[in-house]
Amino acid sequence: MTVTSEPTTAIGAGAGAADPRIRDGRLVPEVIRAEFPILATTNASGRPLVYLDSASTSQKPQAVIDAMDTYYREYNANVHRGIYEIGERSTAAYEAARTSVARFINAPDRHEIVFTRNATEAINLVAYSWGRKNIARGDVIVLTEMEHHANLVPWQILVQEKDADLEFIPITDDGVLRLDVFEVLLRLKPRLVAFTHVSNTLGTINPVAEMTRMAHEAGALVLIDGAQAVPHVPVDVQAIDADFYVFSGHKMLAPTGSGALWGRRQLLESMPPFLAGGEMIREVHLRRSDFNEIPWKFEAGTPDIAAEIGLGAAADYLGALGMGRVREHERELLSYALPALAAAHPDLALYGPMDPGIRGGVIPFNIPGIHPHDVAQVLDRTGVAVRAGHHCTMPLHERLDLPATARASFNVYTTRADIDALIAGIAEVKRVFGVFGA
Ligand code: ALA
Repeated sequence: MTVTSEPTTAIGAGAGAADPRIRDGRLVPEVIRAEFPILATTNASGRPLVYLDSASTSQKPQAVIDAMDTYYREYNANVHRGIYEIGERSTAAYEAARTSVARFINAPDRHEIVFTRNATEAINLVAYSWGRKNIARGDVIVLTEMEHHANLVPWQILVQEKDADLEFIPITDDGVLRLDVFEVLLRLKPRLVAFTHVSNTLGTINPVAEMTRMAHEAGALVLIDGAQAVPHVPVDVQAIDADFYVFSGHKMLAPTGSGALWGRRQLLESMPPFLAGGEMIREVHLRRSDFNEIPWKFEAGTPDIAAEIGLGAAADYLGALGMGRVREHERELLSYALPALAAAHPDLALYGPMDPGIRGGVIPFNIPGIHPHDVAQVLDRTGVAVRAGHHCTMPLHERLDLPATARASFNVYTTRADIDALIAGIAEVKRVFGVFGA
């Protein structure tokens, strides 16, 4: 069985010196790539896949595929129910995955990890359960202009229902949050401040610990959307000191349908259930029920067992690489990519902070005169996969006065050769559309 009950820590040094994926303290993406079967495939024209859409969803290593495969082949059974060997094995693996996830983000208590389908479901859980109990008429919730729709729409629905208000921390033209304005907004005494850790569109890494401290001083609770952070930077929820931290599994090498909400024990215990049914109860009578303890109080019905076991395997996999090294790998790649793109294509419009020290591996761009969908389509012919559109951040695009962007994004398996393929692919796009850069 690939699932381990003693996962390595993500925040520490990771694997030992003998690991071929690490050389001189650095990740070797060329070696890591070999563990991702899909990266050995080619497109219909025989071109190798250059996958630069990891912010949308990451590829999965063999270790994660094996963890799910082994579950289905060897011990497929429901959790917390079967009093027989494979049922007990399934429950043990599912709960071991929870322990791996808790260690991955340094949660103080594994019972504070609620498995969800993704970050979106986790935010909806908090908006529905905590929000409907605690938000009242006239209350203020502070968000930012760079939020993914997942951390915007649930709050819009809540404030409309409660006649409460939303306020937004603005961004600079470079895509950095205006903390001076945040300080002013905090004078409104918001009940909650919710913001992304890393922007899925611009790559901006927000100063989450500082923002949490500011919000707490003003008496607000803090929810952080970590969907684009957990795959790329070390995350320590105790050091950040927020109240809720949510993320999806599928962007951190884990299967779709996996994800988690971390919340402080007292908060989770004080919140009413989100979904109701089996598993989340202790006792059911015809006219009333008693609810289970956390985290199971929030895990109604049969969960996506295989996916969460895969999430545990992904947390162990990243932990063995060491999240500090993952971050350094992507920072170096960005330091290579940004000037290389600008030098090869001076006409290219690049967005987001240009300092790799405050930016993750995400590069939104436009080629003047060519729609990003056309850019992505021609790039695809060269084997390069990027996302085009508004990336679920329409308000951010409105703020930057952009209908859409093309976006290249990295992960542990991304190499300089991938960046070179993007640069060559952009030249091909310009050739096809008759645009010749300076
Ligand atoms: N949230 C994902 C992205 O940014 C889908 O592409």
